[in-house]
Amino acid sequence: MTASTTGGLFDVFEERPSQVYGRYGDYVNHRFERVIELIGFDKVFTRAEGAWIWDQDGNKYLDFLGGYSVFNVGRNHPRVKQALIDWLQRDGASMVQMECSPLAGMLGEKLAQLTPGELNTTFFTNSGSETAEVGLKMARKATGKPRILYTDLGFHGLTYGAISVSDDEMWRKGFEPFVPGATKIPWDDLGALERELAKGDVAALITEPIQGEGGVRIPSDDYLPEALRMLHRAGALLIVDEIQTGFGRTGRWWASNHWDLEPDIMLLSKGLSGGYVPVGAVVTHRRIFDKVFEDLAHAVVHTTTFGMNAMAMTAGLATIEVMEGGGVVEHCASVGAELTSRLQALASRFEMVKEVRGKGLMIGIEFGEPKSLTLKAGWKLLHRANAGLFGQMLAIPLMRDHGILTQVAGHNMDVHKLAPPLVIGPEEIDYFVNAYEQTLVDLHKFPGPLWDLGTTLLKNRMSW
Ligand SMILES: Cc1ncc(COP(=O)(O)O)c(C=O)c1O
Repeated sequence: MTASTTGGLFDVFEERPSQVYGRYGDYVNHRFERVIELIGFDKVFTRAEGAWIWDQDGNKYLDFLGGYSVFNVGRNHPRVKQALIDWLQRDGASMVQMECSPLAGMLGEKLAQLTPGELNTTFFTNSGSETAEVGLKMARKATGKPRILYTDLGFHGLTYGAISVSDDEMWRKGFEPFVPGATKIPWDDLGALERELAKGDVAALITEPIQGEGGVRIPSDDYLPEALRMLHRAGALLIVDEIQTGFGRTGRWWASNHWDLEPDIMLLSKGLSGGYVPVGAVVTHRRIFDKVFEDLAHAVVHTTTFGMNAMAMTAGLATIEVMEGGGVVEHCASVGAELTSRLQALASRFEMVKEVRGKGLMIGIEFGEPKSLTLKAGWKLLHRANAGLFGQMLAIPLMRDHGILTQVAGHNMDVHKLAPPLVIGPEEIDYFVNAYEQTLVDLHKFPGPLWDLGTTLLKNRMSW
């Protein structure tokens, strides 16, 4: 759309960053504005394609954050964009509400084909957190039991149900009390699960198959399949949160596929709409669905106004078509293996890199206390002052010096997380690995510019 058809709506992208950020600070979130300025990310971005973003001065940035793992097919994929334009040009009837949406039926059918085994019935939502809410409600109603088990360092969102089963004090502190009946158990610990199940009141265990915010943690191979068997023996359900791991992110359609797992309830969101439209999906078995939507009087016992809106359904269908047609999942598995092995080769040369792990293009780089004396002193000083800052000493120079967007995994965790669009190729991998190597060289100099940066962040009482 041009400025003339939108009455100058997008002229704002030509304003200087100070103006744009000033207005945002005045009317939206001045704390976040300050943080973004402090870390030097205060740009105005005007264009994006695939794994690249451009600012208004024509500088180019490599996106290894992927909008928090939503741009699996790449930013502004032309096929998804065209499908949305086509829908808008139809002047079609979205959200009539008193109808069965043709597009929702098609997307539900597609998800039934793609998800494991008998998962065949979908409830559509508008975000990851809302998807988790629906999964929790379904588990309680379907089992008639009250308790939900969740894992340490698990993350499922920030609405009240979701935060009640998420484990991060930064998000939780001050928002208590949470939804009752949520019990935290250690991740990857079948004994702990068994002890809780023995109490006979558990509706479900909710877990990510690979923890994202929790530092890209991968469970032992027997954890999820055995947990599923134990839950079923106890009349409880397994809710697998594939909100981040789904849609090819880990090199399979679903991370569950790595363990041939067929959960009872699968939570999907992020990658489903190619990053264009908020959307989520709870996919479950008909027998579980029927216990929730139990008769005609309960045909809409849970519902949401925008859930099956045509833009979301269209984007979802087009995104899946792109993924299937373009072999995106297989491509992710192969470039992910290449990137991981190149980073592992770097790890052996830098003493602070403890481990590079992941599946597909969900990669975590974990740092640990160094052995050499001066570096060790710097590490200790920084961690004592603020346990959460170390990761920023990598994310900031990567953006500032190399134009690469990344994120730190969770809070107070020395894990750097990579989640680029799944369409990256050799050019992006080379660019990233070279920049990472230079950043690691700088990081291993103490005193040095990156440690000075740490001190500046500390002075500003910055946390993340
Ligand atoms: C595993 C997982 N579950 C749930 C959510 C919450 O999704 P949303 O931010 O769309 O509410 C996220 C978001 O990062 C996530 O990674």
